[in-house]
Amino acid sequence: MEDVVKIENVSITYAGDKEPVPAVRDIDLAVGRERILGLVGESGSGKSSLVGAMLSLLPASSRIDGHILIDGADLYGLTPKERRAMRGRTVATVSQDPFTALNPVVSIGRQLLEFQHRLAGSRREKLENAKKMLEQVGIADADVRMKQYPHQLSGGLRQRVAIAAALLVRPRLLIADEPTTALDATTEAEVIEIIRDMRGAVDGSIVFVTHDMGVVSRLCDDVAVMYAGELVESGPVAEVMERPRHPYTAALLACDPSRIKTTSGDLPTIPGTVPKPTDLPPGCIFSPRCPKVFARCRREAPALTAAGPSRVACHLIEEADAAA
Ligand SMILES: Nc1ncnc2c1ncn2[C@@H]1O[C@H](COP(=O)(O)OP(=O)(O)OP(=O)(O)O)[C@@H](O)[C@H]1O
Ligand SMILES: [Mg+2]
Repeated sequence: MEDVVKIENVSITYAGDKEPVPAVRDIDLAVGRERILGLVGESGSGKSSLVGAMLSLLPASSRIDGHILIDGADLYGLTPKERRAMRGRTVATVSQDPFTALNPVVSIGRQLLEFQHRLAGSRREKLENAKKMLEQVGIADADVRMKQYPHQLSGGLRQRVAIAAALLVRPRLLIADEPTTALDATTEAEVIEIIRDMRGAVDGSIVFVTHDMGVVSRLCDDVAVMYAGELVESGPVAEVMERPRHPYTAALLACDPSRIKTTSGDLPTIPGTVPKPTDLPPGCIFSPRCPKVFARCRREAPALTAAGPSRVACHLIEEADAAA
């Protein structure tokens, strides 16, 4: 399978106020062509940092080690100018808050025209493309909407416009960082549906960041589970959902509201909190919260190991292999 994105030994360190913050550590991950990868993990696990690095959107004071290859081009081997040129062309994004992507004082039509400024074609063709794309993301009265301003649109419509804007450039990689958290459940379901329908408009792959395992199972082909800045498990969605091998993945699934049938309305949560990157436990980073912890876990960090079609960083995998 051809990989559109290859992340090799990537670590991200923020300058921090008092000390360096090693927010992402040694990630190895690939996203195949025409695949949708779900990136999941609790708050603070480094999801936005990792996609920020793919988008060249991290603060200048942060340090990125390792390699991020997009279509074989090493992003951080390029000049800053070349890298910026990839954003909005090769790599496009839909963010949590579509207001950040849209300019409040410029009409939708004009903005959609501007998003295409690096593409060939006449103004008329570009306006026509914008209108078609709005229709494709389910906006019926595209002509009217093109003349309106972002504040005249509902949150769900704005997010559709943001998706249309990102897709107009036919990116090789579309990154959506929690694009539905600001929306109500019905609109969220619609936006997910649109992304699923529109996957053909991305001439490459999609990375979808979410807290929600239910969204991953509805939308994604592959999943990567991050915890406190590290990759703990990755693999095809069906496999990881059916056979979560890392206790953290199992715990996330156990907390997924769509899989739980409680009558009390109380949702289970994972006891404890994600450690800060500046205060990591020795051994396995999940060991202080892990229900299956044993002595080795507190001493030694597990390496990411192949387990069936998945990759898992847990000593239980090696112990099981040794016992077999
Ligand atoms: N500019 C920064 N300077 C210092 N630390 C930062 C900076 N940005 C993020 N961090 C830290 O890096 C870690 C990872 O943050 P990040 O935002 O990538 O996580 P996330 O998984 O996207 O979380 P969320 O689900 O809340 O969006 C956190 O501990 C965060 O406090
Ligand atoms: Mg985030």
